[in-house]
Amino acid sequence: MSSSSSSSDHQLPKRPIPGNYGLPFFGPIKDRLDYFYNQGQAKFFSTRIQEYNSTVIRTNMPPGPFISDNPKVVALLDAVSFPVLFDMSKVEKRNVLDGTFMPSLSFFGGYRMCAFLDPSEKKHTSLKSFFLSFLASKHSEFIPLFRSCLQDMFIKVDDEMSSHKKAHLNPYCDPLCFNFMFRLFCNNKDPSDTKLGSKGPGTIDAWLALQLAPLASLGLPKFFKHIEDFLLHTFRLPSFLVKPSYNKLYDAFYDHAGPVLDKAESFGIKRDEACHNIVFLVGFNAYGGMKAWFPTLIEWVALGGEKLHRQLADEIRAVVKESGGVTFQALEKMALTKSVVYESLRMEPPVPYQYGKAKEDLVVQSHDAAYEIKKGEMIFGYQPFATNDPKVFDDPEKFRGNRFVGEEGEKLLKYVYWSNGLETEDPTVENKQCPGKNLVVLLGRVLLVEFFLRYDTFTAESKPLPGLGTSVTFTSLTKATTT
Ligand code: HEM
Repeated sequence: MSSSSSSSDHQLPKRPIPGNYGLPFFGPIKDRLDYFYNQGQAKFFSTRIQEYNSTVIRTNMPPGPFISDNPKVVALLDAVSFPVLFDMSKVEKRNVLDGTFMPSLSFFGGYRMCAFLDPSEKKHTSLKSFFLSFLASKHSEFIPLFRSCLQDMFIKVDDEMSSHKKAHLNPYCDPLCFNFMFRLFCNNKDPSDTKLGSKGPGTIDAWLALQLAPLASLGLPKFFKHIEDFLLHTFRLPSFLVKPSYNKLYDAFYDHAGPVLDKAESFGIKRDEACHNIVFLVGFNAYGGMKAWFPTLIEWVALGGEKLHRQLADEIRAVVKESGGVTFQALEKMALTKSVVYESLRMEPPVPYQYGKAKEDLVVQSHDAAYEIKKGEMIFGYQPFATNDPKVFDDPEKFRGNRFVGEEGEKLLKYVYWSNGLETEDPTVENKQCPGKNLVVLLGRVLLVEFFLRYDTFTAESKPLPGLGTSVTFTSLTKATTT
């Protein structure tokens, strides 16, 4: 038996993992109803932490019957036990992207996509090396391409603002995310100049909704809970409903990403498998993550208020002026802007769940105790609880824009886990950390830079969206008086 890499040096008392799975069939359904409807996610976990006086507990995770063969998990709900999920010598990541069930491969052209592969599988090495090499080759395009997409977006936001006195963010942000990724892979081709037209984001939304329905709730009035629960959580929804539109998406990449597909072949990946993987990376990994996160980032900055806006605008404008433009070096110098990006990823990690199956009997330590997990048990981490751990972060529920500024602040970065790894580590073929990690943080910074070069301050309203993410509406946008 080995000890978790997350364990601290001193020996903590051993404790059996508290919690129970209830009766077969009924236990998982009760937990599912609690999770989606009776309690909601945060309360589901916080009540169990209190009840068992432990941040490592046993519970069932949705969807359960009849989709998951085995919904039983050991849940990790603090910052120190969580990182065992990043230790590839301890956990297996095969087919666990969506947790205790695997969507039909017919959503993905019949292939298991990179994100479903364990690093011990050879195909993971070829695909991830290909992605990392592709991203490295595009480095110099990231900033100008994203700025150009952002400028198009803000023109539309401004138009709506001037005609309606308020402006929605999400309907412009979704195309921004898709256009950026499409142009990155397709030699700067605008997707609206292809057969796809403006249908890319809608196609991906429908494709994501069908495969992820077992993990979602539409937020309908409680009266509908049993109907929704039956329709979304008891059987897999069929992929044929989105097949024709998925094929169009695939064809658009196949037609316009030729040089990238050539490169994939040089990594030993078949052309069609590479293209399905590109659609998955663009649609699920990148578009899915960014469409959830960018509005959340803006929401938190809105809540930060005018003082934070002034500080950000001052920092951004001074550095851009001094550096002669928006460059990698300039972004590195923006301590507050960087910290705000990390703080938003800490407060609300865009992908809140991680899973891994114990490869061997192991011991995981929380702050207070050590727990034995048996080989083959499913380990689950609810990330918002890990990155809001009060034993690591002061006032964890409070958005502090400058939390990660300075030497002391930077020491906390190792507790920011949004990319499925520590913020102080990097994605490799040996781990499952997001290969877009540095790109995502960069895009968050450029979004804030472009925003505060354009506006002095703003106000916004937000509400949670069914599934994942936030809907943001600007209620005022004050154009920059000095730049
Ligand atoms: C805000 C945006 C993003 C978020 C929140 C995000 C988050 C994540 C997370 C949490 C994982 C690990 C999933 C797991 O195994 O449990 C992951 C994996 C992955 N992400 Fe991202 N990601 C984002 C953007 C991107 C971008 C822009 C790219 C590529 C350009 C990308 C490519 C991938 C790939 C290929 C994997 C699978 C890695 C592997 O199998 O080793 N992601 N991402």
